[in-house]
Amino acid sequence: MAAINSNSEPLFNTARVIEELPSDDGDDDYEDIDVQAEEKLPLWLRTEIVDLLNDELETATSEAQEEVYDMCRPLLLCTDTQKLSSNQSSLPTLSRDRHTEFLHAALKPLPSGYVAMDASRPWLFYWAICGLTTLGQDVTQYRERLQETLRPLQNPSGGFGGGHGQYSHCAGNYAAVLALAATGGLDMVNREAMWHFLGSMKQADGGFRVAQGAEEDIRGAYCAMTAITLLNLPLTLPPSAPARQAGLESFLDRLGEWIGRCQTYEGGIAAAPGSEAHGAYAFCALACLSIMDAPHISVPQCLDVRALLAWLAGIQTRTEGGFAGRANKLVDACYGHWVGSCWALLEAALAPASASASASASARPPPNLWDRGALIRYLLCCCQQPGRRGGMRDKPSAHPDAYHTCYSLAGLSAAQHHYSYDADAAVHDTVSGRLTAAFNWTARRATPAERAVWCCDEMDDVAFVHPVFVIPMAAVARVVQQFPHSIL
Ligand code: FPP
Ligand code: ZN
Repeated sequence: MAAINSNSEPLFNTARVIEELPSDDGDDDYEDIDVQAEEKLPLWLRTEIVDLLNDELETATSEAQEEVYDMCRPLLLCTDTQKLSSNQSSLPTLSRDRHTEFLHAALKPLPSGYVAMDASRPWLFYWAICGLTTLGQDVTQYRERLQETLRPLQNPSGGFGGGHGQYSHCAGNYAAVLALAATGGLDMVNREAMWHFLGSMKQADGGFRVAQGAEEDIRGAYCAMTAITLLNLPLTLPPSAPARQAGLESFLDRLGEWIGRCQTYEGGIAAAPGSEAHGAYAFCALACLSIMDAPHISVPQCLDVRALLAWLAGIQTRTEGGFAGRANKLVDACYGHWVGSCWALLEAALAPASASASASASARPPPNLWDRGALIRYLLCCCQQPGRRGGMRDKPSAHPDAYHTCYSLAGLSAAQHHYSYDADAAVHDTVSGRLTAAFNWTARRATPAERAVWCCDEMDDVAFVHPVFVIPMAAVARVVQQFPHSIL
């Protein structure tokens, strides 16, 4: 997808390509093409380009891909409007009110089928609350209810479990902390116990387990470092942390090195060393590195950036415009965030904003390495549930859910806005010792010219979502003020 960008010049003269294609092969498609209508489309949507890039090999994977493409194409071209209202460029507008209603409903008592999500209760709150804030809604009305619901999930030994009577888990804990941060309810967290819980997750090789006796993976690292930073917990490991026996003293010890070991031969990032690269894990790695230090320092220090860029560029699907989670897999709206937000972090890593280094390489404008317009089109055209129900979905054949609504909206935020990192700001607080790199982000809205290229109206802009913590930028700014001192 990187080579076929709606912002870039055509790679070759498409009119000539049409002429030169054989006319006697029994395929009448080319004769039916309305060349003028085609020329108004972004390059990646033009029939002749799509056909040129398809190979002939048929496999179960190519058949599944073709089915998704056939389903998406009329929606992407807006020949099937699904009765969604349209903007001036004929793209569906964001059904803000319907998605808002859908997410409010997700916070009401749920049908019995949700028993399967019993270990993911904090996630259900987080997805709905984060999605609502991205739609510009005030969620403080949920603060007390959320605190009361989460209270029994907070274990005396620290951290939140996914459900009643369950061990604390770094992922559910992350969702609980973020939902509380978004509603202004973090005061209920037992920070000292949390420090002990996270200390017990730190491993001798530098990584983190996700729960007692559970797997060690990149989610553990990102989720733990998020809680440590937002709650301003000490970076020093608690005296009882088992990793101390291996000589480790800080949550940061050997962490960058461990993250580097998760980069695979493909260039992407796996859950743990030796596993398959996946976009969601690439986000965890980049976000974790952006907590540990300024991204332009920590990312190139620990990862092969060129290889990662090439891999990420390869998972923007060239026929639907959204992202797949891994090579040769299908497009899915949630990767709008997991992969789209990687781009926000990487662009800043490649071109941090610096007043003091204006003449140096670090002051270069961010490179344009992904197709924002294509992602926006996929999310607005293919992932909004038509009809009164609202909500967003993985792809047109799927039902909407809070997870995909939350991460589609976060993906829209990554695509619609520009996030930059202030390279002149401090990366830790000399008084409390807190890591402050993740607090040095600013966001700005796109220009009218950019919106015109993306066929996206200003009224469909979502809120600024923090590129590291995935809650509103404004909520992160409030949290920094809340815990100015470490608990020690
Ligand atoms: C594969 O699912 C999905 C994964 C291997 C990763 C899932 C992880 C996350 C979504 C994020 C975790 C992050 C945190 C912060 C807890 P699949 O095989 O169904 O999908 P695919 O075909 O799209 O890869
Ligand atoms: Zn998904």
